[in-house]
Amino acid sequence: MADKLKTILFLSSCRKGASFTGEGSWGDRVGKAMKEILEEEGLEVSLWDPKDSPYTILEQPLHLVPDASGFPQWMHDKKKELEEADSFIICSAEYNSALPPALTNMLDHYPPAAYKDRPVALLTYSVGPFGGCRIQINLKAHVTELGMVPVPASCTVMSVGSMFDEEGNLTDDRVKANMVKQAKELKWYAEALKSYKQVRPVPVPPKKQ
Ligand SMILES: Cc1cc2nc3c(=O)[nH]c(=O)nc-3n(C[C@H](O)[C@H](O)[C@H](O)COP(=O)(O)O)c2cc1C
Repeated sequence: MADKLKTILFLSSCRKGASFTGEGSWGDRVGKAMKEILEEEGLEVSLWDPKDSPYTILEQPLHLVPDASGFPQWMHDKKKELEEADSFIICSAEYNSALPPALTNMLDHYPPAAYKDRPVALLTYSVGPFGGCRIQINLKAHVTELGMVPVPASCTVMSVGSMFDEEGNLTDDRVKANMVKQAKELKWYAEALKSYKQVRPVPVPPKKQ
């Protein structure tokens, strides 16, 4: 049996505990729902939650130092995981019309080459009525700069506080249908790019003289 396609699902929030919007991060619930949907589509999903990794505010990315041996082993392992992924999905909140710093901080630790030429799906959410749509454009610019290829199906989850039951299960059929559509599209692009690369490798730009 063929190996499963590997997907990394990035979360964006380090919020913990009680707040006016409920307990903890809503991203945990959106991410869990998306992870289950991706797994139902047959993808192997690795969840990257900035709450669970000991990132500091970026001091140096791995690729900008002459000798990266001083970086912790877990960071080298994460870089390898990025390089081996077949696709990515970003599940992001919107903070003051901008990308959450925990997300960009996590992404910026690694070289663009570790993300390059794999598809990415953009899933945003907010407690308000716009579902994080204002950061969809910024997010697309950011992932493109890193070399990822955004798939057409974006997904926004508005009023996220009313989309889940008390056990954290997604209850809204419209949102679920959009997430399934996005997951199917991500898988299609991951398969398409991976198989075509075996026929024709991605062109490497000539080295500068
Ligand atoms: C610092 C901060 C800024 C926020 N800015 C926005 C915003 O620009 N637009 C919006 O719709 N919601 C905004 N919110 C509300 C978030 O949609 C809501 O808190 C959401 O639950 C954040 O995701 P999280 O729970 O995963 O952290 C903001 C929340 C925080 C903590």
